[in-house]
Amino acid sequence: MLMAVILAAGKGTRMVSDLPKVLHPVLGRPLLEHMLEKAAGLECAPRVVVVGHGKERLMARFGERGLTWAHQDEQLGTGHAASIGVERGVEETGDAAGDVVILNGDLPLLDTATLCRLVDTHRERSADVTLLTCEKADPHGYGRIRRDAGTGRLAGIVEENDADEATRAIREINVGVYVFRVEAFGQFFARTGRENTQNEYYLTDVVAVAAAADARVETVAVADEIEIAQVNSRRDLAAVCGHMRERILNDLMDDGVTVVDPSTVHVESGVTIGRDTTILPYTYIHHDVEIGMGCHIGPFTHLRPGTRIGDSVKVGNFVEVKASRIAKGTKVSHLAYVGDANLGEGVNVGAGTVFANYDGKQKHPTVVKDRAFIGSGTILVAPVTVGQDAVTGAGAVVTRTRDVPDGAVVVGVPARLLGK
Ligand code: UD1
Ligand code: MG
Repeated sequence: MLMAVILAAGKGTRMVSDLPKVLHPVLGRPLLEHMLEKAAGLECAPRVVVVGHGKERLMARFGERGLTWAHQDEQLGTGHAASIGVERGVEETGDAAGDVVILNGDLPLLDTATLCRLVDTHRERSADVTLLTCEKADPHGYGRIRRDAGTGRLAGIVEENDADEATRAIREINVGVYVFRVEAFGQFFARTGRENTQNEYYLTDVVAVAAAADARVETVAVADEIEIAQVNSRRDLAAVCGHMRERILNDLMDDGVTVVDPSTVHVESGVTIGRDTTILPYTYIHHDVEIGMGCHIGPFTHLRPGTRIGDSVKVGNFVEVKASRIAKGTKVSHLAYVGDANLGEGVNVGAGTVFANYDGKQKHPTVVKDRAFIGSGTILVAPVTVGQDAVTGAGAVVTRTRDVPDGAVVVGVPARLLGK
């Protein structure tokens, strides 16, 4: 049995925010969502999330995910949070025989493969506790791994605030990811206290107590220090977003997408783009966007969630698309807003076209059928449909429900039928 406990109850004081730290988005998705994705790769059950600070918002956001919630009403430290989570997991399964992976909630770049390596090592060595460590060029802000000079065995973990100068010079750090034998966790946690600068129960002390008791404590090294970057502050958040952005763009390029200037293109996680599509500079693509093959996107394009773009589509400069489908070969080349729309194949949307989807209370859909030609500066007031091969004249205002028949030409304000 392997259960997961994700620690997400902390105040996140260093974020200086009303929003709980784990709800801060990293490329469009909350920190906690990234953590859950990693835990999912391990196939743990149950997945316990320890919540406290801002728990209503968290539970509302993640209520439907089949998670087990554990409540830490007072934030007395990571050790305290972990013990509440482990207890809740045992209560759920009625079984304290297996292992528990405990994850800090602020490590969005961690690789699932690393987690698997951690769990495998723990099991192979029949360890009581196994944790990830990393040699960092700059270890500032992390707990330092203290090792016995003779044996090299882990002897303790010292938090930055509790460390003297010599300890601060240690470059091996604690990542904040652990696997414990559930029974060993309970036994060693019971022996920890709060005698430290923060007056908290440290999870790291549970490891130290285990080491002092000659329990089997193993470490697994992570080579890539970017993978273990944590988010304690807004600066960390920006740094982590930057790394994730780079990873996403590199993956896209490896899959055959041209990104003309990666330094100005933002693609959130959860985006698919087909091969031979070119993304031009200053383009922002949100999560939940799909783009086909051979498209031209950008420069200066904003694609929002729910956008589905077929093959060979052009979406050009200063175009915003939201929750819309754009089929094969269609062009929206300049200065347009396309919201809640369904555009057929071979449509041409002229410069300055606005899909007026919002009446101040509700959003409404617009349909533009195959090969329609939308003249420059057209306003389509939703809900409305423009038929196949229809034409709207430049500056036409097509008012709501005044559908344009197939093959018709409409002009003026409000648009009137000119003929077919
Ligand atoms: C922690 C580790 C440190 C490690 C670093 C790696 C401890 C004492 N220190 O420090 O050794 O190098 O992570 O990222 O564990 N939380 C709760 N309840 C609490 C306190 C915290 O749920 O009472 C949660 C937070 O929401 C967060 C996680 O625990 O997700 C870690 O807390 P954080 O304050 O970020 O710990 P660090 O100071 O970064
Ligand atoms: Mg942290």
